[in-house]
Amino acid sequence: MGNLCKQLVILLVVGFLGTSWTGVLKAQSKSQTYREAYRPQYHFSPAQNWMNDPNGLVYHDGEYHLFYQYNPFGNTWGHMSWGHAVSTDLVHWKHLPVALKEEDGVMIFSGSAILDKYNTSGFGSKENPAMVAIYTGNYTNKPLQDQRIAYSLDNGRSWSKYKGNPVVEEGLENFRDPKVFWHESSHQWVMVTVLATQYKVRFYGSKNLKDWKELSEFGPAGGTEGVWECPDLFRLPVNGDSTDTKWVLQVDLNPGGPFGGSGAQYFIGEFDGEKFVQDPATEGETRWVDYGKDFYAVQSYNNIPPDDGRRIWLGWMNNWQYAQEIPTHPWRSAMTIPRSLELRSFNDGIFLTQQPVRELQTLRGKHYQTGRQSIGDSLDLLSKADVKSKTIEIKARFKLKDGQNFGFKLARGLDEETIVGYDAIKNKLYVDRRNSGESSFNKDFAGIYKAPLAPQEGIISMHIFLDKSSIEVLGNDGRVVLTNRIFPSDGNTGLSLFAKGGAAELLSLDVWQLHSIWSSQKNKMD
Ligand code: FRU
Repeated sequence: MGNLCKQLVILLVVGFLGTSWTGVLKAQSKSQTYREAYRPQYHFSPAQNWMNDPNGLVYHDGEYHLFYQYNPFGNTWGHMSWGHAVSTDLVHWKHLPVALKEEDGVMIFSGSAILDKYNTSGFGSKENPAMVAIYTGNYTNKPLQDQRIAYSLDNGRSWSKYKGNPVVEEGLENFRDPKVFWHESSHQWVMVTVLATQYKVRFYGSKNLKDWKELSEFGPAGGTEGVWECPDLFRLPVNGDSTDTKWVLQVDLNPGGPFGGSGAQYFIGEFDGEKFVQDPATEGETRWVDYGKDFYAVQSYNNIPPDDGRRIWLGWMNNWQYAQEIPTHPWRSAMTIPRSLELRSFNDGIFLTQQPVRELQTLRGKHYQTGRQSIGDSLDLLSKADVKSKTIEIKARFKLKDGQNFGFKLARGLDEETIVGYDAIKNKLYVDRRNSGESSFNKDFAGIYKAPLAPQEGIISMHIFLDKSSIEVLGNDGRVVLTNRIFPSDGNTGLSLFAKGGAAELLSLDVWQLHSIWSSQKNKMD
């Protein structure tokens, strides 16, 4: 074949792969290297193409399902469909074919999934209950969004859209992101949606997932810049006491996040199956779920067995300010690590706290540990540790002494570093990514992001997850969290401790190299 001819064939194949569903599947299974620059090694990311919000998080029959907003045809937002992956341990993920596809001028926007155990919908049977997805239909040719359902009788592998769709239609342009769960005491399905531009959450109830009636609304409240998106509602024990519970209503905000662009806020209160009432003590304040720049559209799992009992969620690690420009190829975006949630009481009230799920500990490899010592100006003690600052977990406890500012410098190279520090004068835990590496793709990327954090009995603890191009920092056992992307040069493996304005006292330090989840066969395409 002549050169020109060859090029023509390549162009035709690429063109075909770019727009057909068969092409999508083939291309997905081919590009599973997961060795690209900036590729997260233990966070979920699609093999290729654009991803945003996690959708349809549901546990069933030994599998955690992760559906997600996905463009099967490109590396920026468009043709929204639900991508799909499953995991048996919340750590290793197996890619599955696209679950719900854009069709007939209706895109599949965000939503949730449930297991219809009692066959209330009649889609399945008690022996083989249906998995039901509840999502927003977004018309491509008119400004209209409605709520729809689809069901699967084979563990989410194949799906049928309900013939009677839409199931909720209000003639609204910005009405989306249904989170559905079973509300035990009122014996009904509850759907939590947003009227995005009115800063309202609207609740619906249903006995069969097909016929819905409006129950009530909540809002405006808290942060009301931009639009409200991706709500979630669940009950949590306070301080682990199952007889003392409160409801948490999580609502995303874009723009208007704590440092510009996307952000997640939450409200604490009561929900009786009809109405959410915010705790009066918390009225008038905006509570952030995360103080980083890259935490959005978080969703919690439905149907986790009661003997496990955890409320686990994960979010989209990106920010709409620059989401479509981050320098990764052939995919864009990653999810956060899965985190389990608690409500805990502190001197200043009851707050939502987050912890990495314990399953992540199975990734721990080479370990470096050191005990109590004083940290002067800069301590490169970690160079002895033989752990490379690319995919690591760090747990550290500091006692406040005279050091005014202390912490870690990570992903260090010749002239790049990301700082995770504590400012003991202002009582702030911070991540400074101003000099972390590539940031020229958008003026809103570089910055320093801070969370208020008071010492607990004179101690500040930091729990850090670095995964090549992301860094999650949990302060004082998850009282505050900061999630940020970074794009350091490939050779940046340096890691050190620092203290300024006096010495800091390190009480304990553990550093683990974390294994890549993509090296194992488990993660390959079916
Ligand atoms: C949030 C969001 C949702 C919407 C989806 C579309 O990131 O804007 O409100 O359903 O993304 O992809």
